[in-house]
Amino acid sequence: MKEKVSKKFQEIYGSGAILFASPGRINLIGEHTDYNGGFVFPGAVDKGIVAAIKLNGTDKVRAYALDLGESAEFGLNEADKPAQSWACYIFGVCREIQKRGGKIGGFDTVFAGDVPLGAGMSSSAALESTYAFALNDLYNCGIDKFELAKIGQSTEHNYCGVNCGIMDQFASSLGKKDNAILLNCKTLEYEYIPLELGNYSLVIANCNKPRSLQDSKYNERRAETEEALEKLKTVIPSAACLADISPAQFNEFGKKVLSGKVYDRAKHVIEECARVLSSAEALKKGEIEKFGEYLNQSHYSLRDLYEVTGDYLDALSARSREFDGCIGSRMTGAGFGGCTVSLVEKDKVDEFIKYVDEKYYADMGVRAAFYKTSIENGAQEIKE
Ligand code: GLA
Repeated sequence: MKEKVSKKFQEIYGSGAILFASPGRINLIGEHTDYNGGFVFPGAVDKGIVAAIKLNGTDKVRAYALDLGESAEFGLNEADKPAQSWACYIFGVCREIQKRGGKIGGFDTVFAGDVPLGAGMSSSAALESTYAFALNDLYNCGIDKFELAKIGQSTEHNYCGVNCGIMDQFASSLGKKDNAILLNCKTLEYEYIPLELGNYSLVIANCNKPRSLQDSKYNERRAETEEALEKLKTVIPSAACLADISPAQFNEFGKKVLSGKVYDRAKHVIEECARVLSSAEALKKGEIEKFGEYLNQSHYSLRDLYEVTGDYLDALSARSREFDGCIGSRMTGAGFGGCTVSLVEKDKVDEFIKYVDEKYYADMGVRAAFYKTSIENGAQEIKE
């Protein structure tokens, strides 16, 4: 991919570009917990965005999206927001760097990606992290990696209409090869945990359902959990976020102030936070089967309580789970479409893919895509 990005840059803007890359991510467990101050457990993957960038000495950005064959040109003032949604990610990153005092100017850039779009593997976070990292580096802004992750998140909030949490941008910026990141999204304290899965491999499968309405439903879930927190605070005043509430406290007080869907949403978040910690413990002890069982429980909770799975992800994970040799499967990312992550016996991976592919196609009339993945480092310059 870096060759084709370099070549295109040369063709359009000439020589002298520097290459940068950032990965997409998978989240092993801890879904819809990040914006509730909870734990997540993602890792950066071997797919992402590569960009060629060269400062152009003007106050304009000239950008070319290779996969789309589209170009955009925009200035760096608030009023210059470009029309194309992909360009808004780059524009938003520039604006957020400026808001933090970074002195940046114009540049020429070409980018391409191999992280599937809209598949729950954070193509947008990879794009944001690439430009946040690159511009910070090229303009010596001195912004640390935590703040670079927040720049990506603020870009989503302020320029792309998604009130996302910090997980995706954090994983894309701070990913570490062969490690999952146990991240406390309230404090941003984190721990790298070696992803040693013994006899098992991770298999990612894309259900290939287009994610329509995803952004508005995501924001709706976020609003429901905020409503739950406000009500729970009347009986648990010390809770600053849902993740501050233990499952035992929720059992005691939840039904007093919550009902219906808002109760279910809060129950998912609170139990999922506990599951993340149990999963990390299981992984540290090499109890992979136990870890697999937590993945299943997470999916059931996202299906029944948080209601973000949908028929396609439910069918894909159910077909995965029923395969003899798969010990856990769940949706990963925001949901409403996108990918599942499954733990499969190493020497049965090909058989698993064949089985699930056929069964899922028979169920849904759509072909899934399968990716054998590895866990890689976060945002970086690509040295030739
Ligand atoms: C999306 C968001 C993340 C997180 C997940 C759900 O990927 O960008 O912040 O909320 O959904 O866990």
